[in-house]
Amino acid sequence: MITIDRIIAMKNKEKIACLTAYDYPMAKILDRTGIDIILVGDSAANVFAGEKTTLPIGMEEMLYHTRIVSRCVSRSLVVADMPFLSYQVKVEDAVYNAGRFLKAGAAAVKLEGGETVIDAIRRMIAVGIPVMGHVGLTPQSVHKLGGYKTQGRSDAEAEQISHDAELLERSGCFALVLEKIPAALAGKITRTLKIPTIGIGAGAECDGQVLVLHDILGLFPDFTPKFAKQYARIGDDVEKAVEKYRDEVKNNIYPGKEYTLE
Ligand code: KIV
Repeated sequence: MITIDRIIAMKNKEKIACLTAYDYPMAKILDRTGIDIILVGDSAANVFAGEKTTLPIGMEEMLYHTRIVSRCVSRSLVVADMPFLSYQVKVEDAVYNAGRFLKAGAAAVKLEGGETVIDAIRRMIAVGIPVMGHVGLTPQSVHKLGGYKTQGRSDAEAEQISHDAELLERSGCFALVLEKIPAALAGKITRTLKIPTIGIGAGAECDGQVLVLHDILGLFPDFTPKFAKQYARIGDDVEKAVEKYRDEVKNNIYPGKEYTLE
């Protein structure tokens, strides 16, 4: 079983490979392959539930996915994403909600933001809940940010992201997701911090990488981010298989003798 300490120790020694999963068969495959971290991302709202943003997904849905993924994982570290409004309103609610993810089987939670959520993060860590931070493009703030644009291009933005990253480390986060920021900024933050950075669209200098599983498998038909490499086109294979099944049923080929019980 990969521990939080092991993830921290991987910095400057071994790159950290992280992918999202939301269901049992995929989590089992990821665990078997030796992926270090499985993130039960709130991207489930997009790639699993077909929502336009991550805002609609709630605690019950995220707990459901976390329970399923945690049930079958024996090696990877399971990190659960805290959904919008589950940690931004009151510190007590944030800590209680974070604890529910640990009860559901996750080893840690991830939440978006820096200074604005620091009190909640400090309290979670104080009561024994490991936290992964997330700065740069924070999709739960899509309306404030005016879309899914690269963050940290201006000096002021870069300064704020660096400041938040250092604050999150000082507050006890064990790792930090850097999403969609210039590679040079991600490199600078990575060199400054002692905890590992995990990039998504943040260049090669990060200590690890995370991507949405459906993006790398070609399973999300609507859109693939420019930084996400497609390693397979599973969606096309599924379509072909389903067409074949449909044709075989219509033409009385399936079920043949071998699939018919005596
Ligand atoms: O929800 C998600 O999948 C994420 C990413 C960092 C991949 O937060």
